[in-house]
Amino acid sequence: MAEDAQVVITTEGLTRSFGDNVAVDRLTISIRAGEVFGFLGHNGAGKTTTVRMLNGVIAPTGGGARIFGLDPQTDGARIRARTGVLTETPALDNRLTARATLEYFSDVYGVPRSLRRQRVAELLERFELTKRADDKVGGFSKGMRQRLAIARTLVNDPDIIFLDEPTSGLDPVATREVHRLIERLSHRGRTVFLCTHNLAEAERLCDRVAVLARGRVLATGTTRELAAELNRGHRISVEVDTDATERALALFTALPQVSSAAVVGDRAAARNGGTLLLLNGVARPDVPPVIAAAAAAGLNVYRVEPVDSSLEDVYFALQGQ
Ligand SMILES: Nc1ncnc2c1ncn2[C@@H]1O[C@H](COP(=O)(O)OP(=O)(O)O)[C@@H](O)[C@H]1O
Ligand SMILES: [Mg+2]
Repeated sequence: MAEDAQVVITTEGLTRSFGDNVAVDRLTISIRAGEVFGFLGHNGAGKTTTVRMLNGVIAPTGGGARIFGLDPQTDGARIRARTGVLTETPALDNRLTARATLEYFSDVYGVPRSLRRQRVAELLERFELTKRADDKVGGFSKGMRQRLAIARTLVNDPDIIFLDEPTSGLDPVATREVHRLIERLSHRGRTVFLCTHNLAEAERLCDRVAVLARGRVLATGTTRELAAELNRGHRISVEVDTDATERALALFTALPQVSSAAVVGDRAAARNGGTLLLLNGVARPDVPPVIAAAAAAGLNVYRVEPVDSSLEDVYFALQGQ
């Protein structure tokens, strides 16, 4: 790994137990500079514990990690000087103003006084907090607080930003703002390590994801790679008359080219008296014979569309294994 300058985080069998509970179990991942890496898992999967180990806040009980080639156990301070961490429930001091919050953190992170003023002003501007810069944080909305908390993680201009469930508890508008901020960090070439249990968020923002369950990585790759790995890529949806739904399901399920069929809710179809069916296991060359068989049986087929596997499908398939 040392010869690959692009890799900024590697772990090798990284493990952390709390008593008998193995919170992180032999984690082996590698993350390249500039990636938005999704660390995806349910509550208690081991995401936060991993972030804490990578930043040298807690020690592993097995295996190890390298961040910028440094060992978090011995070089935690040097690593933290180049990373920013948004914790799961960031604590803000309600008595401070937004500007004072950022100035305080700049001092904590040793930002030189000569740079501090400008850096804080820039962050306030970038995070659309300039107008409220001198108001106390206590009066801020949840979305503003989260923007400030993220701004705070950037005072040292970090190369890697760890965001631990940055949108949990935010409304859709604030969530979208945070997503935009993450996209902009990525455009600026920063590496983002995004812990989330939100599949749509990971699918939207991440270059690659690792799917974590009970401390173990079930799979790593791009959404597309994961879908291909599971061979769930071949699906189509077809619209039939609603009063022919049962007959259509029976017919499609009986065809050798179709592995399973199910009804999916679809308002557009329902408005026209139709029902949308999802047919699994139908590769592209199978589509014409399947539709021909339906027509030969007197079924009206109004729409045929390929359906891409989403990260959600992949996730649930993996969790089910
Ligand atoms: N300080 C701790 N002491 C004991 N158990 C812990 C501690 N931190 C985390 N755990 C346990 O480790 C597991 C993983 O937790 P965590 O890393 O917080 O998961 P996630 O962030 O994915 O929700 C959970 O079972 C949790 O209860
Ligand atoms: Mg957590």
